[in-house]
Amino acid sequence: MRLVASRSPATRLAPVTQGTMSNKIESHLVEDRVFKPTKEFSAKARISSMAQYKKLWQESVDKPETFWAREAKELEWRAKWTKVLDWKAPDAKWFVGGKLNVCENCVDRHAKGSRRNKAAIIFEGEPGDRQVLTYAQLHREVCRFANVLLSKGVKSKDRVLVYMPMIPEAAIAMLACARIGAVHSVVFGGFSSESIVDRLEDSGATHVVTADGGWRRGKIVPLKENVDEALKKYNAIKSIVVFKRTGQDIAMKDGRDTWWHDEVAKVSAKHEAKAFDSEHPLFILYTSGSTGKPKGILHTSGGYLTGTYVTCKYVFDMQDDDVYWCTADVGWITGHSYIVYGPLAMGVTQVMYEGAPNQPDFGRFWQMIEEYGVSIFYTAPTAIRAFIKAGDHFPKKHDLSSLRLLGSVGEPINPEAWMWYHEKIGGGRCPIVDTWWQTETGAIMITPLPGCTPTKPGTATLPFFGVDAAILDETGQECKANEGGRLVIRKPWPSMTRAIYGDKARYKKTYWSDYKGMYTAGDGARRDKQGNFWIVGRLDDVLNVSGHRLGTAEVESALVGHPAVAESAVVGRPDDLKGQAVVAFVTLKAGITETPALQKELREHVGKVIGAIAKPDDLHFAPALPKTRSGKIMRRLLKELVTTGTVSGNTTTLEDFSVIANLQERIAGAK
Ligand code: WT7
Repeated sequence: MRLVASRSPATRLAPVTQGTMSNKIESHLVEDRVFKPTKEFSAKARISSMAQYKKLWQESVDKPETFWAREAKELEWRAKWTKVLDWKAPDAKWFVGGKLNVCENCVDRHAKGSRRNKAAIIFEGEPGDRQVLTYAQLHREVCRFANVLLSKGVKSKDRVLVYMPMIPEAAIAMLACARIGAVHSVVFGGFSSESIVDRLEDSGATHVVTADGGWRRGKIVPLKENVDEALKKYNAIKSIVVFKRTGQDIAMKDGRDTWWHDEVAKVSAKHEAKAFDSEHPLFILYTSGSTGKPKGILHTSGGYLTGTYVTCKYVFDMQDDDVYWCTADVGWITGHSYIVYGPLAMGVTQVMYEGAPNQPDFGRFWQMIEEYGVSIFYTAPTAIRAFIKAGDHFPKKHDLSSLRLLGSVGEPINPEAWMWYHEKIGGGRCPIVDTWWQTETGAIMITPLPGCTPTKPGTATLPFFGVDAAILDETGQECKANEGGRLVIRKPWPSMTRAIYGDKARYKKTYWSDYKGMYTAGDGARRDKQGNFWIVGRLDDVLNVSGHRLGTAEVESALVGHPAVAESAVVGRPDDLKGQAVVAFVTLKAGITETPALQKELREHVGKVIGAIAKPDDLHFAPALPKTRSGKIMRRLLKELVTTGTVSGNTTTLEDFSVIANLQERIAGAK
């Protein structure tokens, strides 16, 4: 049965434009290379034929409660649910009445059983230091840190801000929060102190876990210093526990700041985990939207854990002897779902790496894959493109024969990158799972299953179990094959976000108001004749820079916050490495002179306000910005200008064409 969508007012939904990705769509349409998993791979996989996939998928959307209950039962529940799903769009409750402890599922379950002395995390720091934590050791460390948090007065549902480098203690801090029912809010270590302030204020956090610093390209990222800077503007923090990683001198405030190693030495390694409600909040993670303020995406316990566990089981087909490595940072959803919760719930052995992929050179990842015998490797297209540029001689130096499965996430993977990944890293034998999902979806939604799905370079292929994905036009009709439209999910799924923290109205408006009862992802997509989904990219004012979401409005508001700036407009342009690059147009206040020094200062300013990933790649001064007669900035024209060098699109609503002509000259001059 197909749900019938309400007709949305045409004014609210602008027509789907192909934007900067249009040339890629063309190449997608002619893509006819098909890659099937090898017989050897399929023979060992959980789902080994398309018939099996189709049957299970059909069941999962026809009778979601049957499918999800069967899967969720594989986890450890202290009390069984009375109802699988309670759905009053847009509010979902999964496994109603069920009780569990998420941390117990990820740690205790294995530490108590046959995986006791199995490596949970094999860590390598950027400087080359190593550490292995077995499940039993991880259990003790997590229990200790849970006791530390309790000793600081952290209570159930309190928000704890975690600002850590990519070290095992980041995962330990998150798991310890989950263990005592506290809500972690992890902030990516590359974000600035001002970003920390926003997140502290929005989440109302009372405690912080951080480190003195982390290693990145041989340099120290001054994490504690950034926290100190943030706390000049936020005074509700009662305690800061600081892990000693980089060893430089840092300020410690008496009565508030203490060292991790001193704290864990004082407490017991035993902690009895309590059970929490299935809908107990697990974490808040901030992501960019189309307004200036990042959204706090809230995830809860039972459904989220089920979603991440089940996708690890079927998409990565994790087996007990696998060595898995996801190169994301725990500061992003990929790190939450596919470093911490999913893989640990599966009890797999994983590799964790602190630093940059090119430290000391672009051979680092391949050397680590060889050394640890990595069998499943999950990374982002932007990294793959950087490796292609660095040269084949790096992977060639290493024995990559332990690999059996490759994954990609974060942005559409261009066919060239897919082919290189397949041949040079996968040796032509490893299936590639191109996984589409979002911070909000919590877990992978559209993806091949490695043992059965025929893949084509550039498509995330088919919906995962329980995912009723479709592409709709403005009127709510399903698009025909190869017609572009909006990607929606027509049924609730366990790991879906439950809220934008503290903003119910925004949650409803952002995700659930385009089509009645359906989730709008914000992505444009099309399906080919075989039903494969080709994701085109964001339809809103959100860029995808190196696989990370960045709101143009966020960058604009950072720029306008600078005393020299009157107005700004930010757009994306295609970039070979990053996917999209950030281009800013800036109108200065009267009397301020355009200088290269100011240009540099403004770029640095954005880095300081948001973080290095948001620094504009190009910054053009603009005497005026192109506007409609009613005064709206026409970003569409700026985007076309920076993408093609000219403007051929509709300019009839433009107030003054000379503005565009002027900018065109300036851009040409800047090259
Ligand atoms: C946006 C979500 C999901 C974890 C990392 C990013 C884009 C993500 C793919 C893919 C094409 C993709 C979408 C999506 N995206 N994966 N396999 N193919 N596009 O999470 O920061 O929440 O960003 O990333 O545009 O909406 P996020």
